[in-house]
Amino acid sequence: MREVFGLPEIIDNKAEFTIRNATHEDLPQIIKINTEALPENYPEFFFVYHLENWGKAFFVAEADGRVIGYIMNRIETGLGFIRKFIVKKGHVVSIAVLEGYRRKGIGESLMKKGMDSMRDDYGAKEVYLEVRVSNEPAIRLYEKLGFKKVKVIEGYYSDGENAYLMAAPL
Ligand code: ACO
Ligand code: ZN
Repeated sequence: MREVFGLPEIIDNKAEFTIRNATHEDLPQIIKINTEALPENYPEFFFVYHLENWGKAFFVAEADGRVIGYIMNRIETGLGFIRKFIVKKGHVVSIAVLEGYRRKGIGESLMKKGMDSMRDDYGAKEVYLEVRVSNEPAIRLYEKLGFKKVKVIEGYYSDGENAYLMAAPL
């Protein structure tokens, strides 16, 4: 790294952020981010249910002293999308990063922490999610992490848009 007057020069746009497990106190801000970032919104009890059942795989990202992103996951047992037998599957239910904090590696870090926890804390062998076919940023992120498009789910969203079901081994 180049140095100016002995101080390291900041040459990238990587934000200072930390990833930690979500707590009940984080839920109002998580719900706010979800409402701002996505049309798929849920009642509070849905977030509480995921926090209480799969809290080790529920993470927030903090920057500038506040929560600016989250990933909420759950574990299911069923026929695998990668392995064609009954497996524990991690399900990425919802991930979002506040608009001003995007493209700094935060979403990728949240995904990696979530995937590690689903594998190591819960024994999931694969991970899957649904994503709008028009959601290029998210699809790129998932592909970067090894997800493949498994199928199209017609009319998955309430406005009629199709979803890709994407999955990756863990
Ligand atoms: N265009 C192209 N590729 C992108 C973009 C983009 N706008 N954003 C992310 N990527 C890809 C790139 O490969 C990027 O790596 P690179 O920067 O080295 O090229 C990689 O994803 C990682 O990007 P991050 O900076 O870690 O992603 P970010 O912190 O911006 O979060 C997210 C990505 C969560 C999808 C964010 O854009 C967001 O909050 N969007 C709105 C909410 C949303 O769509 N959530 C997903 C819905 S589907 C679901 O929840 C299962
Ligand atoms: Zn889903």
